[in-house]
Amino acid sequence: MKHLLSTQDLTRDQAVRLLDIAEDMAEVSNREVKKLPTLRGKTVVNLFFEDSTRTRVSFELAAKRLSADVITFSAKGSSVSKGESLKDTAQTLAAMGADAIVVRHGASGAAQVLAERGWTNAAIINAGDGTHEHPTQALLDAYTMRKRIHGAAARGKALDGVAVTIVGDILHSRVARSNVWLLASLGARVHLVAPATLIPIGVEAWPSTVGYDFDVAIDFKPDVIMMLRIQSERMNHAYFPNEREYARQWGLDDERVARLPVATMVMHPGPMNRGLEISSVAADSYRSTVLEQVASGVSVRMAVLYELLTGTGSGTDTATGTGTGTAA
Ligand code: CP
Repeated sequence: MKHLLSTQDLTRDQAVRLLDIAEDMAEVSNREVKKLPTLRGKTVVNLFFEDSTRTRVSFELAAKRLSADVITFSAKGSSVSKGESLKDTAQTLAAMGADAIVVRHGASGAAQVLAERGWTNAAIINAGDGTHEHPTQALLDAYTMRKRIHGAAARGKALDGVAVTIVGDILHSRVARSNVWLLASLGARVHLVAPATLIPIGVEAWPSTVGYDFDVAIDFKPDVIMMLRIQSERMNHAYFPNEREYARQWGLDDERVARLPVATMVMHPGPMNRGLEISSVAADSYRSTVLEQVASGVSVRMAVLYELLTGTGSGTDTATGTGTGTAA
């Protein structure tokens, strides 16, 4: 695997292998010295044209835990604000010797353009491109589900038969797209729930089912409910009457969360709009995996960097084992 652009590109075996490597990386994060020498001498550039907290910081931490040199570059405060193009920015960073470029961009397809145009030989990791995909978010979500469901026996397992209901702004959600493809590959049953205005055209071709009534979806007792952020910044007109009406019909409020089976997980990729798509009771309940997802993000991003930059493709044995596993 040279790049990670989309979960559609991942086979089931590749996805399970990445989740297994992430298990090893999580063990490193529990050590007193949370560091491996594996990527010593490699340079990882975080190239963020859109705001981020979780993805940017966790990629930086992941690269540092693997002993890579890390440069974090935000469009704000860089020559991008003077009009420098993606091509010139990428070539400039490539000239400085980047081995991996982690890119977040407002344009769908930006990561693919970087990977395919030959402007850089670096491995490209899509950290969110417009409304298209956010593959490492989906991987960390799958990792979190697998951990809650299978616990210490998670290694080697997929998510066969797990019922996942994704609720909210599907139209603008790269998280939803990446999750639908990855979860389907891993054997999960994915159901989407949203107002009709927030369901994308062409959704019939996705490996998922669609509904419009959140209460009906709850009656089916899903194993996982994943709430999505309302992405107001991408909305150029009204998709629902008002926020109160949205929360009443499609929000995970206190009454709905009380009706969920005890074992149902509540997920949210963050950042959350509390009181809109999710209540504080739901977000802070024992069911909520919101902070587990953040912690999983570091392990999963370590796994992705390891896989792309060492090119072993050999799975978990070498990820933290003898030779690479000693603390730096
Ligand atoms: N989930 C997610 O991508 O969060 P950030 O925008 O904070 O990176």
